[in-house]
Amino acid sequence: MTATTPLHHGASALDPTRLRSDFPCLASESVYLDSVASSLTPVSVVEAMNEYYFSYRANVHRGSYDASMMASEQYEAALAKVAAFIGADPEEVVFTSNTTLALNLAALSLPLSAGDEIVLSTLEHTSNMAPWALKAYQVGATIRWYNPGPEGVFEIDDFVKLLNERTRIVALTYVSNVLGTVYPVEAIANACSERGIVYVVDAAQAVPHRRIDVHALGCDFLAFSGHKMLGPTGIGVLYMKREHAETLMPGIAGGGTIDTTAECRCPSIDECGPKYVTFSALPDKWQAGTPPIAEAIGLGAAVDYLQAVGMENVHRHSQSLAAGVAGALRSIPGIQVYGPEEASLLSSIVSFNLANVPPDEVGRMLNERYHIAVRSGAHCALSYFMGADAVVDVPGNVRASFYLYNTQEEAQQFASAVREIASFCS
Ligand code: ALA
Repeated sequence: MTATTPLHHGASALDPTRLRSDFPCLASESVYLDSVASSLTPVSVVEAMNEYYFSYRANVHRGSYDASMMASEQYEAALAKVAAFIGADPEEVVFTSNTTLALNLAALSLPLSAGDEIVLSTLEHTSNMAPWALKAYQVGATIRWYNPGPEGVFEIDDFVKLLNERTRIVALTYVSNVLGTVYPVEAIANACSERGIVYVVDAAQAVPHRRIDVHALGCDFLAFSGHKMLGPTGIGVLYMKREHAETLMPGIAGGGTIDTTAECRCPSIDECGPKYVTFSALPDKWQAGTPPIAEAIGLGAAVDYLQAVGMENVHRHSQSLAAGVAGALRSIPGIQVYGPEEASLLSSIVSFNLANVPPDEVGRMLNERYHIAVRSGAHCALSYFMGADAVVDVPGNVRASFYLYNTQEEAQQFASAVREIASFCS
């Protein structure tokens, strides 16, 4: 099998210059500061997927010939690796196509009735808002909003005031994709489990950046994407506690989810339905249709890469670049940096606005004049930026995000570029 460890990185603290040649995209002149939207991919991930496509291309769990058995073996190994990466058992993990689909699967599968309540926060990405809004609309449930304020600092005592005997589901981000602020998942999980509330975590911006153990955290569901953690696009993951995986009816079903070797108990074809069906053993009960096989193998290679670098190193490196840049930007006249100053409350993100310059214009100048790639706009965080109850009175901001391959020099280049733009736009 292809080597899936970094080509240039040792086990010690992270030195990005030693691993940059693993990422061919970094050979260009531009500075990539948009890993929160999508990370770059190392050679080992692409090679692992190529090997599947070129050497043992077949479906999984469906053939008794060599290529299919090899594909099944590699797929199962990747599933086990991804599950272990977040401290889950393989039976508790299902592959989807991205975080959005994972959150939709949770929403489609959880029972909810008219009068029930769901609690979201005003910092949610649309992907952790729309599935619940749709669900609430369909059944006549109500959404309650927790507002952590413009800096996104989560106060557990304020949050628990929103929970009551009608609250069935709490769905919250782990790390904000706008501010990089981190929610206290363990404390929220305790508050929810004491009240018998299901707690769903959108961990799209957390799993790529910090070590996670879902059993220790105590959440019920947790969703993330492969493409933000060095893996390929087209794969996401939904973790669900074993008790939910066993007892809930999957909201999406199809080939693979039904055990076709079990005796058919339907009295007639007209009565065919969930009552008589035998679902497959976990996790296949939840894996509808052919899974993303190459993507799972690629994600397994991405997990190998991140583990070889060390998640503590990844976290410390990205956080320290972001904190350093946030500090440098705060000294620029006319700038507003969003999020708290306290570095330990932050992840890998710095977002800001320059007075009188629209965020898209700043993004365009950074690209055209300095070849620096950032994201500008509302970052899909509609309730933070938009509508009558928007948390802030601007329609968007500029966001830079850092990852394991970004260097101190790139961070400095970025801060100088913003200073220069601020000086000639003032
Ligand atoms: N969710 C991604 C972002 O925040 C796309 O940029």
